[in-house]
Amino acid sequence: MNLTSRIANYEFENPLMNASGVWCDNAEKLDEMVQSPAGSFVTKSATPDFREGNPSPRYVEVPLGSINSMGLPNLGFDFYLDYSITFQNENPGQINFLSIAGMAPEENILMLKKINDSEFKGITELNLSCPNVPGKPQIGYDFEATETILTRAFEFFKKPIGVKLPPYFDIAHFDEMAKILNKFPLQYVNCINSIGNGLYIDADKEEVVIKPKDGFGGIGGAYVKPTALANVRAFYTRLNKGIAVIGCGGVENGRDVFEHLLCGAQMVQVGSQLAKEGITIFDRLLQELKAIMEEKGYSSIEDFRGKLKSI
Ligand code: DHB
Repeated sequence: MNLTSRIANYEFENPLMNASGVWCDNAEKLDEMVQSPAGSFVTKSATPDFREGNPSPRYVEVPLGSINSMGLPNLGFDFYLDYSITFQNENPGQINFLSIAGMAPEENILMLKKINDSEFKGITELNLSCPNVPGKPQIGYDFEATETILTRAFEFFKKPIGVKLPPYFDIAHFDEMAKILNKFPLQYVNCINSIGNGLYIDADKEEVVIKPKDGFGGIGGAYVKPTALANVRAFYTRLNKGIAVIGCGGVENGRDVFEHLLCGAQMVQVGSQLAKEGITIFDRLLQELKAIMEEKGYSSIEDFRGKLKSI
């Protein structure tokens, strides 16, 4: 059974990864990702300096997924860059994704310059879709701002780079965003970040369940799967063939992985369910995916990837 997947010129043993933010904020968790059977991993979205993030409770598991308003707690960009370079030096031929989420365009440019000037050989993920920083709009919902930051980045940035997008809900927005993204030599787009600013409430206590932003936060898990698949499919069918799609949203079992791949994803990420189940989830997902492929008579992902039929 061949589960090989590709992004840019890189080959991965299988398409599974963590979703940024989950199991990747410190060295201990990242080491577990490295040792897991997942095909690759992405680091927690970094800001130039260490951030404490929002007050707790800020991540709560709810019946069909999760709600979070972490507020970008992270060890600071240098930690994730150094970790990635060390990982790549110790594991020749393997690469990871380095996520950055500057609080202002200047911060993104600063981190991109540092990556450009470093020995980092992996793929950079520019996060355009953090919904949880009070007073900061998501860049991905501002089409002009998205085009401006990508224009500035590609003026000097020479390494492989992709973007993490928020979910879109309107066909006109899929069309408009794809048109902008197709102007740039991106390696991939990652669909989707959490559905921003949902509100999960506890009816017994008559209160919200997370503390920041009066309980408003990003929704992940089973709630978001149809939206995630729609975004994967919409961008897979609209983007230039050189731009891959990474699928993220609602993956709990091998069937969910299969669905993302069928919609056109090259890699498939796991967030809420990884947080819930722990690092052993990757063994289970791989077994379940292989069983589905075997039952359907597929021997490689390319046999079915993107081949969703319309009726
Ligand atoms: C956070 C949440 C996100 O969805 C994201 O993309 C980046 C950061 C956070 O709250 O830490």
